[in-house]
Amino acid sequence: MKETSSNTVVSSWNEWDPLKHVIVGRASGTMIQAPEPAVQNDWPQQGFPLGSFGRMPEQMEAKANEHLDNFAAILENRGIWVDRPTPLDFSQAVQTPDWEQGSMFGCMPPRDVLLSVGNEILEAPMSFRSRWFEYLCYRPLLEQYYKEDPNFRWESAPKPRLTERTFKDNFWSQWNVLSDEEQWQRTKNSDWIITETEPLFDAADVARFGRDLFVQKSMVTNDAGIEWLRRHYPEHRVHTVSYTEKLPWHIDATLIPLRPGLVLTNPERSPLKKFQNELFEKNGWEIVEAPRSVRTEKMPLCTCSLWLNMNCLVLDPKTICIEAAETPMMELLDKHGFEVIPVPFFEVSPFGGGLHCATADVHREGDLEDYFPKQIEGF
Ligand code: NVA
Repeated sequence: MKETSSNTVVSSWNEWDPLKHVIVGRASGTMIQAPEPAVQNDWPQQGFPLGSFGRMPEQMEAKANEHLDNFAAILENRGIWVDRPTPLDFSQAVQTPDWEQGSMFGCMPPRDVLLSVGNEILEAPMSFRSRWFEYLCYRPLLEQYYKEDPNFRWESAPKPRLTERTFKDNFWSQWNVLSDEEQWQRTKNSDWIITETEPLFDAADVARFGRDLFVQKSMVTNDAGIEWLRRHYPEHRVHTVSYTEKLPWHIDATLIPLRPGLVLTNPERSPLKKFQNELFEKNGWEIVEAPRSVRTEKMPLCTCSLWLNMNCLVLDPKTICIEAAETPMMELLDKHGFEVIPVPFFEVSPFGGGLHCATADVHREGDLEDYFPKQIEGF
């Protein structure tokens, strides 16, 4: 049955069960955000040298919205109920008692902000000041779900202070002059900009596999944040994972659950702990390496890598949305028995990611299951 507002159900335990209801972001009003401790945008060729900020070019925004609307229509035609966020005026300056920030960011990637686990949707802390208030774009929807589904648990992680104690002093000026080797050394030590002062995580650093959650320690997710998730989900097993990626943020171009027993990995990013792959192998999972993107250059003003070719949306264990030009990825998934739906999306990437980033689950059919009955002690 197609869902409507009269039978809203909030529930989603993993990345592959049949999708019934989803949020698809909007590009409207997205900013190259104003300078802040966590973010260094430096695009002199595109008119945004270090320290400058402003709205994304109008034509780029229009194209991105066209692709997002088309994606939403593809999902709706498949009987999936699609909701959209309400953009704010992201050009406005924002403040808390602790700081002032010259602009906000946008609301193209709901996946970064909203973590759906079972009948709960959790608003993530976010570690960019420009993204501190981004949850407000989703409040009209969350309020509605709260009224419509008596079982919906609406949660919010502690809002972080994001004072100077949260960020390492002069991180960027030091990082930018390190040698390649020194940068890798810092990466091996997960030594990036955020400190352990307070719990921080973005929802997009979490990959959901039923009872097991894989959480990436990153530029935006610290150990305190992962520990917060562990205490918050006592019924789950929360695994901390890290990969050889220099300035990582968000796991969804690194480790992609496709269906029970099948996971897609990034051949350029190796796990930093051997247990990470062992857990899959021990439980009979097949690990498939992603092919490279067909593209050789990123879109202008894009902060994501070309590995967005991995950033797919699984509609059910046999059906998957892939960026329309990514033929090698489509062929790989076809070989693994998927019906592949091509979705033009490359022009959305400067607004915050790919097809997975652009969505947040509201309802997938199915229950909480254990896909890793054989655990590894200490992981
Ligand atoms: N930051 C990662 C993940 C993006 C979804 C990348 O750019 O590959």
